[in-house]
Amino acid sequence: MTDRVFPDGFVWGVATSAYQIEGATREGGRGESIWDRFASRPGAVADGSSGSVACDHYQRWRDDLKLMKRLGVRAYRFSISWPRVLPHGRGTVNATGLDFYDSLVDGLLEAGIRPFATLNHWDLPQRLQEEGGWPARSTVEAFASYTEAVSMRLGDRVRDWTTHNEPWCIATLGHEQGVHAPGLRDPVAALRASHHLLLSHGRAVPVLRRNSPGARVGIVLNLVPGYPASPSDADRDALRRFDGSFNRWYLDPIFRGHYPPDVVEDHARAGLLPRGEMPWVEEPDLAAIAVPFDYLGVNYYSRAILRSDRIPEAENAPRSVEEAPPEERTDMGWEVYPQGLGDILSRVQREYRPREIYVTECGAAYDTGPGPGRRVADGRREEFLRAHLLVAQRAIEDGVPLSGFFLWTLIDNFEWQHGFTKHFGIVWLDRATQERTLKDSALWYRDVIGANAVDDGVPVLARRLA
Ligand code: FCB
Repeated sequence: MTDRVFPDGFVWGVATSAYQIEGATREGGRGESIWDRFASRPGAVADGSSGSVACDHYQRWRDDLKLMKRLGVRAYRFSISWPRVLPHGRGTVNATGLDFYDSLVDGLLEAGIRPFATLNHWDLPQRLQEEGGWPARSTVEAFASYTEAVSMRLGDRVRDWTTHNEPWCIATLGHEQGVHAPGLRDPVAALRASHHLLLSHGRAVPVLRRNSPGARVGIVLNLVPGYPASPSDADRDALRRFDGSFNRWYLDPIFRGHYPPDVVEDHARAGLLPRGEMPWVEEPDLAAIAVPFDYLGVNYYSRAILRSDRIPEAENAPRSVEEAPPEERTDMGWEVYPQGLGDILSRVQREYRPREIYVTECGAAYDTGPGPGRRVADGRREEFLRAHLLVAQRAIEDGVPLSGFFLWTLIDNFEWQHGFTKHFGIVWLDRATQERTLKDSALWYRDVIGANAVDDGVPVLARRLA
């Protein structure tokens, strides 16, 4: 086997998010978030669970830090819970909430682990939802004030900031498909939400620069490379529409200061934009959104294959079809397609030229639990990660400015609408006892980090014979 070596200083990390791991949703003065409210709706979460206990990370963060240290991770991507800092979304700051993150950051720095803090990983304060949530323009200013409060306190020690995690999920899953909080099914609300998310990114960047001088600021997008199901014009157009609303709707504004005109037209044709305009977009907004930033975070899980729906009334709904056999899918039903990571990275590099890129999430759900001797033999996860890391390493060789890789995720946790039924962790969580057990993939990742390299899995003899 040959080792594929990563550049010196490559940032090896793990990623989590507040609502998925912290628990303690009613402790330390935390306010209610839209996810607390959404999870309490009957049927909203597959197993009826919520993040109220989760991994009890709020109490056990020191243990989790020790786990990270054992694995040798160089960086930790976590999110800050907005309602823990501002229980009502704006106004009085809850010092206890900020104290928690203050101690976490100090603990990380002491352990030699670089904190990458995300300001919004979906847990909007419920009070702001009642004032209109992301579809309302007032949430933009609320986000800027929240950013101010957090960065005033942590800006001297956190050197890497992310404004939002996956605005597409917030806008589309939360406001159009209704499967995430706040559970709306209103495509216009989704468009408005996407704009206010982008605008609040643009507003937050200068705040972070002011309060955290010299720090690096980015945004994290979930990008999905699409491929047409056939070379037909109809399928190619289905791809254009999917790529337009999924990827370009976010990439174009932040890098180029405009929305993709063809997608605006699609929305107008679908009747979402009377007069073909987006009245919620004000003149200076796009310049604010296109503020220079330091890195793009890319979350990658799978690809989409697009087939045109020939039903005329569904003209604006290109269908994503599955072609992979079930054995090539993770427990999410997502196809394992490592090359898609390479495709999306090189495309972003070619078309948008970000200064720097991190893979801020990549990982797989496999329900492998403890076997004899409590060993968790999750070889499929290891194979998944190895394949994606090999592709990432090749992308670097091909000139993509990829500076780090954050594995999703450290510990099995609350996987949104799937509750605790999907296991993405490299650490097994026993929910009854909160005991953590390193899976085989964790030990493998520790070795990858230690070697700063991943083996290509091809036995030397086979290579010689090839
Ligand atoms: C991403 C989310 C993350 C986790 C993974 C599986 O979309 O950012 O919180 O749920 O998917």
